[in-house]
Amino acid sequence: MARAEFFNLRQDYTEQAAGYLDRRFGDASGRLYNEVHRCTVRALLCEFVNPVARGLEVAPGPGRLTDVVRGCVAAPLCVVDLADGMVAELKRTVRVCWPDVAVVQGDAFALPFGDGWFDVVATFRFIHLFAVQRQRALLCELARVLRPGGHLLVEFNNRRYGGALPRLRERGLAVELRETYTTIGALSGTLPEGRLLVVRGVGFPLSLGALYRRCPRLAVAINLRLGRWRASRGFAQQLLALWVKT
Ligand SMILES: C[S@@+](CC[C@H](N)C(=O)[O-])C[C@H]1O[C@@H](n2cnc3c(N)ncnc32)[C@H](O)[C@@H]1O
Repeated sequence: MARAEFFNLRQDYTEQAAGYLDRRFGDASGRLYNEVHRCTVRALLCEFVNPVARGLEVAPGPGRLTDVVRGCVAAPLCVVDLADGMVAELKRTVRVCWPDVAVVQGDAFALPFGDGWFDVVATFRFIHLFAVQRQRALLCELARVLRPGGHLLVEFNNRRYGGALPRLRERGLAVELRETYTTIGALSGTLPEGRLLVVRGVGFPLSLGALYRRCPRLAVAINLRLGRWRASRGFAQQLLALWVKT
């Protein structure tokens, strides 16, 4: 059974909303991951997406990457999240910092937008909440609201994160791994009209938290380099894939 079926995501993320970013990304490893993630997303969007693009971020949570996406597309960026708590947190930030971001509460499986409305759709640390079969339905829905020629940027958990498999088993995550971690090939087949452009690694088993505390720029540089390396697909836990809808 997939993780999402164990609990109610809307309620769970509402309960987690206050202090979510500090809890998840507050220690040195979390800060390193977050910084590498932000740099990688910014680089991909700047390289491939037209700055006048109409953008949508799905499941932004409290908006960890919303400012990055916002900086790479035309205003207003639209964001959609399901959980009341996350939407409330995000609205508070948006009011103060990013008044040109439009926050909508809604379900990523039934987006409240017409076909082909956006030039770019992005989602991070989200699809791994669902079993692979549901991930396919989710990606089809994200692709539906994308215009032909538009870009889809999706982070997913890498099933080939094989080096860590025995450790994950020990920690009782084998079921989640089997059902929610996926491969580039499996996901590419989901979008028959899409062409996969580029894949980058983000989260690595190397724990560079200690280095990050002493020398953050070096730790980030090493991770960014690893992410661009083709072989990183074999061991990065998270991969970012960019499609173009044809
Ligand atoms: C792990 S958090 C990721 C937050 C953010 N993208 C990040 O990378 O930090 C998952 C987010 O998905 C949202 N979510 C869960 N189910 C959803 C659904 N069906 N539609 C839209 N958002 C959903 C949750 O409310 C939560 O904000």
